Amino acid sequence: MEEPDYELLNSQLNALLVDETDSLASASNFVALLYNAIMDVNWLGIYVLRGAELVLGPFQGRPACVHLKIGSGVCGTAAATLETQRVADVHQFVGHIACDAESRSEIVVPLICDGELIGVLDIDSPTVDRFSAADQLGVEKLCATFCEFQSVRDQFI
Ligand code: SME
Repeated sequence: MEEPDYELLNSQLNALLVDETDSLASASNFVALLYNAIMDVNWLGIYVLRGAELVLGPFQGRPACVHLKIGSGVCGTAAATLETQRVADVHQFVGHIACDAESRSEIVVPLICDGELIGVLDIDSPTVDRFSAADQLGVEKLCATFCEFQSVRDQFI
């Protein structure tokens, strides 16, 4: 699968976020930009850290699970370890939480802004082994850019 032009996406993301201080609006545009640029994806969104759990935030795709526990599933593991989880086959991931039965591979990047976990970005594909190491680097960079604009805290985070 050909990767999107992550450098171009990063400049588009910068342009979308640079003049916006509302984090809900910024997060919504962030997921919409990525969902439309990364091919072969059936679900893409943010789970926000709320106390001791992850809660569904802005996303594109079918309605999904709302509450996820830290330490369980792919998202919960990314939040607990603070490390990206790139899962080639979700059926082989012990504890995977199937919100959309169509999902076969998944990448989850922790959103660490100013050294603090604020949530995770979750991307699901109906294709096994959809996400390459280059996709991981590209998406991690986009998450870092998203975080750069999250210094102003408001009702969303
Ligand atoms: N599969 C995720 C749950 C979220 S959905 O994919 C949208 C997990 O195992 O944490």
